[in-house]
Amino acid sequence: MPPASSVRKILVTGATGKQGGAVIEALLVSQAPFQILALSRNASRAQSLASKPNVTVVQGDISNPASIFEANNPIYGVFCVTVPGKKGAEEAQAKPLIDESLKNGVEHFVFTSVERGGTDRSETNPTNVPHFIAKHRIEEYLKEKSDNGSKMSYTILRPVAFMDNMNPGFLGKAFASLWSTLGDKPLQLVSVRDIGLFGARAFTDPSYKNRAIGMAGDELTLAQGKKVFKETMGFDMPETYGFVGAAIRWIIAEVGLMFRFFEDEGYAVDIQALRKEEPRLQDLSKWLKESSKFPKE
Ligand SMILES: NC(=O)c1ccc[n+]([C@@H]2O[C@H](COP(=O)([O-])OP(=O)(O)OC[C@H]3O[C@@H](n4cnc5c(N)ncnc54)[C@H](OP(=O)(O)O)[C@@H]3O)[C@@H](O)[C@H]2O)c1
Repeated sequence: MPPASSVRKILVTGATGKQGGAVIEALLVSQAPFQILALSRNASRAQSLASKPNVTVVQGDISNPASIFEANNPIYGVFCVTVPGKKGAEEAQAKPLIDESLKNGVEHFVFTSVERGGTDRSETNPTNVPHFIAKHRIEEYLKEKSDNGSKMSYTILRPVAFMDNMNPGFLGKAFASLWSTLGDKPLQLVSVRDIGLFGARAFTDPSYKNRAIGMAGDELTLAQGKKVFKETMGFDMPETYGFVGAAIRWIIAEVGLMFRFFEDEGYAVDIQALRKEEPRLQDLSKWLKESSKFPKE
């Protein structure tokens, strides 16, 4: 391990959540010499992170980042997750963090966004799904600010729907029911573990600088997904009544718009190319065996 003064710090937002947690895990496994600053609005909720080597829990809110930098400078890299809420919520989380990162000499900024129909199309296609639009705006802001004579490079991760949405519990069953509303139209899926792998790699591999990368590890209809599930696990994919998905689409307008996007356009990651880049990329069967919360033998 290099001397403490030369260890670079990475601030990971959403550290107690799925993507931030997966990035921390992948950074630790990679043994890259980083000190990880795990951000949480409530440090007492992040106790399990505090016990990990090279992880310091930092209490704070990303929409108010000045004090985070004051207390922890210099910070080499930032991993940014935003959480949808009322109109403008995601931009109010990410933009101050981008500004403060530039002001404080951050060298590399990773923003996890969402896929919007292929690498080229995602650049220009905000879609009409409000939380996709917010992420597109943040991408544009990040690119504009870091291209504008700054020394900060960026990586934009564009994941598709998470396999982890399927984990045991009512939400997993509701996700299967929503998926069933797509009929014969396949849906691309990615594991959160793999978002973590790419998120960590973005801080160590210079080829990820100033690049946006779509992320998916499988593409399946629900019928195909159920077959893979049964063959891998030996029991049926948990499901709920078929009308639940249609009801969710109708009641939650945002979900309705997102599933309409899946029907009319859809995610379009080149999965084969991504698997060449990262052979550990999980398809549904590998995710079920390696990372899901379903009971394994
Ligand atoms: N689910 C999918 O299929 C899918 C697919 C593509 C993209 N996405 C995007 O992924 C993002 C969510 O990422 P995730 O699943 O990793 O998140 P998550 O598991 O819900 O965790 C988010 C973390 O952010 C922190 N946080 C900070 N400010 C927050 C706020 N105002 N409200 C709630 N939490 C806040 C929370 O930590 P503390 O409480 O410790 O502060 C929380 O642990 C969303 O923007 C979503 O659109 C999801």
